[in-house]
Amino acid sequence: MAQDLFKKIISHCKEYGFIFQSSEIYDGLSAVYDYGQFGVELKNNLVKYWWDAVVYLNEDVVGLDSAIFMHPKVWEASGHVSAFNDPLIDNKDSQKRYRADMLVEDYLEKQEAKINKEIEKAAKRFGDSFDEEKFRTTNPRVINLQKKVDSLREKFVNALEKDDLDQLKQIIVDCDIADPETGSKNWTDVRKFNLMFETQLGSISEEATKLYLRPETAQGIFLNFLNVQKSGRMKIPFGIAQTGKAFRNEIVARQFIFRMREFEQMEMEFFIRPGEENKWFEYWKEARMNWYKALGFDESKLRFHDHEKLAHYAEAATDIQFEFPFGFKEIEGIHSRTDFDLGQQQKFSGKKLQYFDSELNESYVPYVIETSMGLDRLFLMILTASYCEEEIEKESGKTDERVVLRIPAFLAPVKLAILPLVNKDGLPEIAREIRDDLKFNFNCHYEEKDSIGRRYRRQDAIGTPFCITVDHQTIQDNTVTIRYRDTMNQERVPVNELNDIIQDKISLKKILGKLNK
Ligand code: GAP
Repeated sequence: MAQDLFKKIISHCKEYGFIFQSSEIYDGLSAVYDYGQFGVELKNNLVKYWWDAVVYLNEDVVGLDSAIFMHPKVWEASGHVSAFNDPLIDNKDSQKRYRADMLVEDYLEKQEAKINKEIEKAAKRFGDSFDEEKFRTTNPRVINLQKKVDSLREKFVNALEKDDLDQLKQIIVDCDIADPETGSKNWTDVRKFNLMFETQLGSISEEATKLYLRPETAQGIFLNFLNVQKSGRMKIPFGIAQTGKAFRNEIVARQFIFRMREFEQMEMEFFIRPGEENKWFEYWKEARMNWYKALGFDESKLRFHDHEKLAHYAEAATDIQFEFPFGFKEIEGIHSRTDFDLGQQQKFSGKKLQYFDSELNESYVPYVIETSMGLDRLFLMILTASYCEEEIEKESGKTDERVVLRIPAFLAPVKLAILPLVNKDGLPEIAREIRDDLKFNFNCHYEEKDSIGRRYRRQDAIGTPFCITVDHQTIQDNTVTIRYRDTMNQERVPVNELNDIIQDKISLKKILGKLNK
């Protein structure tokens, strides 16, 4: 069921110009995607929402746009050359390659699903008198399954923490985990695979320098920490935010734009006094969760998830997860990175990256709290949360189906469509005049082909919140109807009030107001 929904969202994205497979005419490039005419608008609106909330609402956060290429030593210092690896395993029969940790995680999820199924069945059987806690602690089958899951999870976390690849392989063998595509259990040993893409700077191969495509935007911020602090006369605590492309040679790239090889991040590094990390970690956790909640979707689909295995740079880390059709998965990570990155870059470059704190009268390497989000995952979250199939009643009494994207109006790719009711009697000319007036403020669409009903359906499918219809009454009294996407209600309004009405309904200020403390 959920997988069906996911398939529908993927094909909707293609059919309606949101996302295309990269290099499609050459049969595509795996895990690389292009954003189409409506996709790019939604993406830009998401960036604006993030940027305004993180940079403009906070007096102490500024922006940056650092280059993708950086000196290769940056990645030695950051630990990415030695530690940015995934455990890889090949199936000898199918020749397919997998992430060993993902195979185990999928297995654990299946075991947990079995427990949940038992609980659901019992809840149905017992009705209102069902006590889940009691059932979990007394039902022998559930107790056994839970024991198995807990002990396996402990072994798994231990193997990851110790980077014990033999132990990881042993878990796969012990659990009888098979190749998900072919069922074969003929596995190689687990090996490490570095996720960074390499390229070369310079035209003569002997002189060329090996470079990496950045796997995170964060290091560009750390390198510019003192430039921004000094030129902007910034006082700690302060943050630097940037959005941009990142690249990872993912072993298994799957789930559409959830795991890509070229993707976009929106990251903010917040520099603080050592010792204040717990306070600021909690602060940014709450601030970031509120940012998602302000979108107005079902809040039960959002949750925090603490990391079982910390990245090489993190002291504490939590994810903000969203319930995608394939389960709860990470959209954003919030990390307490201590002074690890600035300290390492200082050590490798030999240049001081310290801050003089005039209140304390001492210099130190600041600590850092990071908020790091994947823009493409956010995009997928918005599409998943707004995709609706609805049965609607037609005037004839018959029913019809519509697919509607209930994207929050301020994020919608097209804000309004201007539609002459018929393609004659001077209505197209009036409609174009209205568009020419409003196009300076909104992304407007003009459409005159097909019946008005069909045109409404097309706009619903791309999430346009308002359709303005010009009809014969417009000629007489200069009024038009606004049809609202979500309710399908229509309202008659004077043309000269359109700008203010729509401006009010798509106001980003109202959303940001909810976040302003
Ligand atoms: N600077 C810290 C950092 O990069 P991360 O958890 O590895 O942390 C941050 O990545 C975010 O980037 C993730 O929460 C996710 O949303 C996004 N992301 C990571 N890998 C991705 C991929 N292969 N495709 C799409 N988004 C990805």
